[in-house]
Amino acid sequence: MRKPSVPPRDPSTPLRSAQDDREPMNFKLKIWRQRDAKSRGKLVNYDIRDISPDTSFLEMLDILNEHLIRTGGEPVAFDSDCREGICGTCSLTVNGEAHGPDHPGAVCELYMRKFRDGETITVEPFRVGAFPIIKDLVVDRSSLDRIVQAGGFISARAGSAPEANSILVSKYDADLAMEAAACIGCGACAAACPNASAMLFAAAKVSHLSFLPQGAPERQRRVLKMVHVMDEQGFGNCTNTYECEAVCPAKISASFIAKLNREYARAQFRQRLGE
Ligand code: SF4
Ligand code: FES
Repeated sequence: MRKPSVPPRDPSTPLRSAQDDREPMNFKLKIWRQRDAKSRGKLVNYDIRDISPDTSFLEMLDILNEHLIRTGGEPVAFDSDCREGICGTCSLTVNGEAHGPDHPGAVCELYMRKFRDGETITVEPFRVGAFPIIKDLVVDRSSLDRIVQAGGFISARAGSAPEANSILVSKYDADLAMEAAACIGCGACAAACPNASAMLFAAAKVSHLSFLPQGAPERQRRVLKMVHVMDEQGFGNCTNTYECEAVCPAKISASFIAKLNREYARAQFRQRLGE
């Protein structure tokens, strides 16, 4: 059957999507402002108007900051880097949810169309004792780096990419290692957990390497040290609330926590045997 012919587009007519016709939106913002780590913070109200529904949440904060700068105010400090869900830098609690209401996704992947016109939006930093506030919405998440420094590495020389590919890994293990490696280290799991536990993060880092032969030489030391540093940094324990899994932008499964527990029990057992 012949397809109906589409008349050629008049190049002088601008391309328009259906969304272009939607009305700009207005919001009331309640944003946590705190001058520095030692000051007391508070929620400050702002009105923001004429925001396109297709503005990202961080772009909306940029627009607010431009307005604050123009009017002699102090811009809101917040973290971001890649703005495409890769780096894990953007760490905001939006309306009480780590990374906001559009899961799975980092807050940089959240768009204003997810909110209602006229809605009040509360923006706070991640509330975790191990993530001290630096300023406004910026927290220090170097406690996660210290967990990785304790064991999230290999000492085996894997060679260049073609050589590494010559080490055979079963598809099943490679897929699980890849799934765990997707963790972007954002810390939302700890922020969402009522115990401020970083178990999902540590589980992803431990599991990623323990599934691979390259990770075998440090397998035992890695899990013992990472769990020790995780406790030392002040993170809580897992009590299976699954809040971490619900907010994780990388869709890390809570089943990796079971893997972490098995790795830990195995390492302790072997340590007792003097291995
Ligand atoms: S496990 Fe998920 S929520 Fe936790 S740090 Fe990694 S990516 Fe972020
Ligand atoms: S800015 Fe990189 S994940 Fe959000």
